[in-house]
Amino acid sequence: MIEIKNLSIIYENFTIVEDVNLTVKKGERVGIVGESGSGKSVTALSVMKLLPGGFKVTGSVKVNHQDIYLLNERDLNSKIRWKTVSVIFQDPSSALNPLLKIGNQIEEAIIYHEGRRKNIRESVISLLRKAAIPDAEVKYESYPHQLSGGLKQRVMIAMAIACNPDFIIADEPTTALDKKTEREIIFLLNNLVKEENTGLLFISHDFDVISEITDRVYVMYAGYVMESGRTENILKTPFHPYTKGLIACIPKVEGKGKRKLPVLPGNVPDIKSKPSGCPFHPRCERAKEICKKELPEIKEINGREVRCFFPIAGS
Ligand SMILES: Nc1ncnc2c1ncn2[C@@H]1O[C@H](COP(=O)(O)OP(=O)(O)O)[C@@H](O)[C@H]1O
Ligand SMILES: [Mg+2]
Repeated sequence: MIEIKNLSIIYENFTIVEDVNLTVKKGERVGIVGESGSGKSVTALSVMKLLPGGFKVTGSVKVNHQDIYLLNERDLNSKIRWKTVSVIFQDPSSALNPLLKIGNQIEEAIIYHEGRRKNIRESVISLLRKAAIPDAEVKYESYPHQLSGGLKQRVMIAMAIACNPDFIIADEPTTALDKKTEREIIFLLNNLVKEENTGLLFISHDFDVISEITDRVYVMYAGYVMESGRTENILKTPFHPYTKGLIACIPKVEGKGKRKLPVLPGNVPDIKSKPSGCPFHPRCERAKEICKKELPEIKEINGREVRCFFPIAGS
């Protein structure tokens, strides 16, 4: 299990993530959704202790009961990263070495983390096939720049499953891709995690994507979890006005021509000038005086959680 407890992330005296509690069990598909700047990526990076210098983390992050912040880099690399948890990022190009054939890159990862060399080429080709890469033998010999964005992301997925991790964290893995390729990658990830009973933490700004790949979701805004619960329940009856706004941004019809996506009015507050009280109050149609002054606690309603003084339903 991945277990994040009371996580806060501070950067230059600014609290960019506050009091996040989140769990992912094996076999569970969990989402984090929220607009850009909500703190989704820093939360994900903190799980693997991948935040760059300058970030201060408080609270605890445990993976299979092991506190990540008590492990040194060597142990993290030999025991946790790739083998227990692997991460897929939005931009596969930055994660792939441009000078190495993709087959060799996956081989290196397996040799480094598992020390295994026997039948390595066959293993890599079978991984490429698992990631539904056509002509796996040919693609094995390709360099990253010879592959499309969608194929590169499939290579990242092949790499992510190479050491049979218990968990995969995917941070906006489809955001840079066109809609059709996005659907294909979601289909692939869904099948892979189901087959292997992998726990998935999937991050997206897009509730539509989240609804297709998660069982449970955490809605983040300005560094806070605003709402969490089963994805289908939240989609049907969002309790938080922010969640309702995000869901309203899901395009209803797949048009052929250009379509304008609805957007939530206003912007995510700058971390250096967060509003007082509930950070969403300046954009909230339900806000009252208390919302400007006090931050609501997160509380449980009907097996779900919501951080709001005036939730839409369930109160
Ligand atoms: N490397 C960094 N240095 C300083 N601030 C950062 C860095 N990365 C993220 N932040 C800040 O942390 C906040 C949350 O960012 P992030 O987790 O990237 O949001 P999201 O992934 O939800 O778009 C933002 O205000 C962002 O400006
Ligand atoms: Mg991000």
